[in-house]
Amino acid sequence: MRTCLFQSLFGIDFKNPVIAASGTFGFGEEFQDYYDVSLLGGFVTKAVTPEPRTGNPPPRIIETPSGMLNAIGLQNPGLTVFVESILPRIARLDTVIIVNVAGRTVADYMKVCSELDRHEAVRALEINISCPNVKQGGVAFGTSPQIASQLIEAVRTCTDKPIIAKLTPNVTDIAEIACAVEEKGADAVSLINTITGMVIDVETRQPMLANGTGGLSGPAIRPVAVRMVYQVARAVSVPVIGMGGIFCARDALEFIIAGASLVEVGCGMFVEPDLPLRVIDGIGSYCERHGVTTISDIIGSLTVPGG
Ligand SMILES: Cc1cc2nc3c(=O)[nH]c(=O)nc-3n(C[C@H](O)[C@H](O)[C@H](O)COP(=O)(O)O)c2cc1C
Repeated sequence: MRTCLFQSLFGIDFKNPVIAASGTFGFGEEFQDYYDVSLLGGFVTKAVTPEPRTGNPPPRIIETPSGMLNAIGLQNPGLTVFVESILPRIARLDTVIIVNVAGRTVADYMKVCSELDRHEAVRALEINISCPNVKQGGVAFGTSPQIASQLIEAVRTCTDKPIIAKLTPNVTDIAEIACAVEEKGADAVSLINTITGMVIDVETRQPMLANGTGGLSGPAIRPVAVRMVYQVARAVSVPVIGMGGIFCARDALEFIIAGASLVEVGCGMFVEPDLPLRVIDGIGSYCERHGVTTISDIIGSLTVPGG
């Protein structure tokens, strides 16, 4: 373990800045056959909702020239199964476990957060504020500063654990949303979730995904994600966690230099399951090459000529 990669953020010690992203790493165990998951800085679980969900009908994943489009629909076994059978098993892993939380209503989020608050193995909660809010007529929680901040304010009353607000890029001004959730008690923000997209089968003249639209991830979204991390990091005081199309250490370093304290690796692991290990190693080598003794020295170190 390289000491230059260590950081203490929102009360948690991270052995390195590389985290596996929600929805692309299952509940952690699935990857144990490939490598020792404890080598990661941490991982974020698939979203947990109060009730079990089967997700959307197939097809729900389509490849695009530089990434993928998915409409999984938050498939997960639900809070009870997660807490009673999955959590006791993954609690043994020697890395930071962050649980991604979703719901249809504010009450749903509060229920999941209150329950998870009682479990020591859960170190932080990543609040997925990019889900349809049925009570708000389908408006995503994350697209309105008011609704996003009300949700964070509500879950703040349910837990003392660090709260990470996961932001959607499908907005005009992501920094405005980040500031709103910071004000109501988010300990960190993570960004970006997928960008809404569509692929059409020209023969049938129908969308390729059964859901019609889906979320675009992968290399195509990286420049957008880096720009958003840069904007948000300048607007908030809490740590920023960056993600979107990280496929190598150089990609991760872009996010770090733009202002991310941690990075999440997502669908790149579908191509290379142990990609996070290569990213960790590459960031370490970069630090050695550039005489960086602590990673904090390069976080947000971007210089913009004339800017
Ligand atoms: C198949 C799939 C499932 C995902 N499920 C979730 C989820 O349950 N909760 C969430 O907050 N993000 C989810 N995401 C979004 C990722 O965590 C990440 O924000 C996004 O894919 C961008 O990173 P990437 O380009 O490195 O994949 C999912 C992404 C994919 C590809």
